[in-house]
Amino acid sequence: MQFFLDTANLDQIREVADLGLLDGVTTNPTIMSREGGDWREQAARICELVDGPVSLEVIATNHEAMIKEAKDLVSFGPNVVVKIPMIAEGLKALRELTERGIKTNVTLVFSPAQALLAAKLGATYVSPFVGRLDGLSQSGMEAVEQMRTIFDNYDFSTKILVASVRHPLHVLESGLIGADVITLPYSTIMQLVQHPLTDSGLAAFLADWEAFQKK
Ligand code: E4P
Repeated sequence: MQFFLDTANLDQIREVADLGLLDGVTTNPTIMSREGGDWREQAARICELVDGPVSLEVIATNHEAMIKEAKDLVSFGPNVVVKIPMIAEGLKALRELTERGIKTNVTLVFSPAQALLAAKLGATYVSPFVGRLDGLSQSGMEAVEQMRTIFDNYDFSTKILVASVRHPLHVLESGLIGADVITLPYSTIMQLVQHPLTDSGLAAFLADWEAFQKK
C-alpha cells in the first residue's frame, strides 16, 4: 500500500520523506489555503520536492473550465495528478482528461457506485472519504471494501486512494481490504510509528543495560 501525505506543508513533507515513507502528496483547496501565501509558488515547490504523484485540485465546476485549469495545473510538473470533484461536470472533464492522457484523482467520492463511474471513465485514482462517511454513522471502510470488489470484478486499473483518514485503524483496515493507496494527515503517520509498549520496552532494555555495565 502506498502512503501519500495529505498536506501542502513543506516541513511535514520533508519530514515524512526523510522517514522514507513518502510515496506522494494530496492537496485540496482547504489544505492549500491553510499554508497562505501564493498558492502557485507553493504548488510548484511541492511538485519539485515530492518524488511521486502530487494531486492538485481544480476549483471550477463546469467541465470546460475544469479542463482549462487542468492544463494549467499539469504545467507545475510531470508528477501532477489533477483532482476532479465527483459531479456530472467532473465526469465530462474526466473523460476528456483520460483521452488526453492526463492523470486524474476523482475526489469527494462517498459511494461504491460513484467509484464505479469514475473507474469506467478511466480515472487514475478514486478517493473515498472514509472519515466523513464515518461521521455520518455510515461505514467508510465498508464502502472501500465494496469498491475493491467491484474493481477486481472488472479488472479496473483505477487505484483506490483512501482519503479523509482520521486514525490508525483506518490504515489497518485499508491494508486488510487491499486499498492501493492511503493519504494520511501528518499526525496519523506519527501515531502509526508510536506504541507505548515500544517506548516502555526500550526504556527497560536501556536501564537493564546501564545497570549491567555498572556491575
Ligand atoms: C483527500 O485527498 C482529501 O484531501 C482529504 O483526505 C480530505 O479529508 P478531510 O475529511 O480531513 O477534509
